[in-house]
Amino acid sequence: MMIFFIHLAICAAGWSGAHALKLRQVSVPGYSRTGDTVSLHCDFDLEGDQLYNVKWYKGVKEFFRYVAADSPPKQVFDLPGVVVDRDRSSMDKVVLSSVTPLSSGLYKCEVSAEAPSFHTDSGSGKLLVVDLPSSPPRVTGVRRLYHAGDAAALNCSSRSKPAAALSWYINDIKAEQAFLVDYAPVRGPHGLETSTLGLQFEVLPEHMQHGVLSFRCTATIASVYYNETRVDVRALLSPNPSSLNGREKLTGSSGSSTTSLHPPLRWWGNEFTTLVLILITQR
Ligand SMILES: *[C@@H]1O[C@H](CO)[C@@H](O)[C@H](O)[C@H]1NC(C)=O
Ligand SMILES: *[C@@H]1O[C@H](CO)[C@@H](O)[C@H](O)[C@H]1NC(C)=O
Repeated sequence: MMIFFIHLAICAAGWSGAHALKLRQVSVPGYSRTGDTVSLHCDFDLEGDQLYNVKWYKGVKEFFRYVAADSPPKQVFDLPGVVVDRDRSSMDKVVLSSVTPLSSGLYKCEVSAEAPSFHTDSGSGKLLVVDLPSSPPRVTGVRRLYHAGDAAALNCSSRSKPAAALSWYINDIKAEQAFLVDYAPVRGPHGLETSTLGLQFEVLPEHMQHGVLSFRCTATIASVYYNETRVDVRALLSPNPSSLNGREKLTGSSGSSTTSLHPPLRWWGNEFTTLVLILITQR
């Protein structure tokens, strides 16, 4: 019965809201790189209440607690990927050292007031730790020269965690969806993922600008990473002579080359006969 009344009193105090501890903001950087030191801030206003404790959670697991009345006030709980810098952490902030992709997650700060109010407020923010690519996107399959009608088949790839989003541009214009070939990211060591985007299309005069065909591949990871690789190659409006040779060889091998030589011979033959006949009739 007594517990019930106390509970009622807490609820009443909670409802009144006049002087209640309030959490203003929890700041989590959103994105950071492997190896970075990350500060998480918990900005609260006691509004006349007395602080009881501040608890930090990653997901549902607590990893840091600050109890105002305790000595020492700071406690750290082991959690994979969460290395708390105890000295630099305090009542309103937690410093994580050397974050890894394992440190990614939802971080929650929960602040509680002392009796009699026992007000509690909480807020959270997401952290995504990325392993950035060690080099700009890699472009393969580029030829030194393209003729109109040639088939272009290129690949662009980039390795990171999470996988980078890739895009292709032809002469600085985003490539049509129909030209793109999506390959599933390939997992490598340390959870790194290699993403690959293919570009396949028939080179047309409209893709050439003053004898140049420009390919550009961009790699993006959320708002933390951007890089690109550009390759400019020569492009000619004339069809590829080697593919014409190829066609001639094809006709030759099919055995039609001899027949194709006959009509002119026959024509000359006929003409000769006609010429002779004309000469004869003139005599
Ligand atoms: C592009 O990459 C994919 C996947 O790795 C591969 O199967 C394909 O042969 C490559 N294409 C070119 C033109 O290099
Ligand atoms: C792309 O990467 C290269 C080499 O790592 C670097 O020098 C360059 O500054 C990067 N470009 C951008 C836009 O970040």
